[in-house]
Amino acid sequence: MSGVVLDGKKINQEILNELRPRIAALTATKRPPALAVVLVGNDPASQIYVRSKVKTCNDLGIRSIEIRPSENITTDDLIQQVAPLANDPEVDGILVQMPLPKQIDVERVMSYVDASRDVDGFGMQSLGALVLNRPAPRACTPAGILEMLKRYRIPIAGKHAVVVGRSDIVGKPMALLLLHENATVTICHSRTRNLAEECSRADILVAAMGRPAMLTAEYIKPGAIVVDVGTNRLSNAAEVQRVFKDEPAKLASFEKTGTALVGDIDPKAMKELASYYTPVPGGVGPLTIAMLMANAVELAEAHLLQ
Ligand code: GUN
Repeated sequence: MSGVVLDGKKINQEILNELRPRIAALTATKRPPALAVVLVGNDPASQIYVRSKVKTCNDLGIRSIEIRPSENITTDDLIQQVAPLANDPEVDGILVQMPLPKQIDVERVMSYVDASRDVDGFGMQSLGALVLNRPAPRACTPAGILEMLKRYRIPIAGKHAVVVGRSDIVGKPMALLLLHENATVTICHSRTRNLAEECSRADILVAAMGRPAMLTAEYIKPGAIVVDVGTNRLSNAAEVQRVFKDEPAKLASFEKTGTALVGDIDPKAMKELASYYTPVPGGVGPLTIAMLMANAVELAEAHLLQ
């Protein structure tokens, strides 16, 4: 048996196409939506994500304003750059790419991201609204996952959902969104006992802990819906061999490039056991970007059409 692929690229295109007329209407009557993107330093993964976000803005006709402070900036100096965006009438959304360098006090910086421009939903006010199930921007990755489950008409109410990982940007908001859809939710983390046993009870399993191919067959209930948020870049040949031993195309690509991308779930087990699953890449990643664009348009409409 092989599960149905939850096609993040397809859903991404659907969402972006639905945004186009809204962006055109704003552009014709007011101005294009505008997103400020703050990328601190040279983290290679963050650079790739930001490039992809800016490119999507350009394709859609959303104005992007890139701010790129150096790796060794202080918290105070970063705040100097972020704070003015909060009252800039030409800016609808402010995105501070995570992770920030170690010397930065993330909470202090985020407190300067005005709630009406919190395009990532990472601020206190947006998170409070999430807890209360009130309208506010939602963190893009969990919101995208929920949107995909809905578009594939996968029922959530009454299901047992297990979220592995308790990060502020994925695990916690994901658990709350599933709870608001009336799932029974378990949150697992590094201190959870008998993780395999917890996971194997999941009707919906969301893996977001950043451990390459850690969840193997014994973690997956046959027929479960499996969502893999992990994007781990492997460069160790033995590890790549272990994960992709039955996938010659992946091994050949590793031979050529020296790296291979793997999620938090063993891809073979996921494909064989899940009823629906998100591939890595091409599953969750494109949804994050689509929801970011949706949040930016939503904020622009709130700023410009009231
Ligand atoms: N780092 C990993 N995911 C995200 C995201 O969705 N937004 C931001 N700003 N940083 C991230």
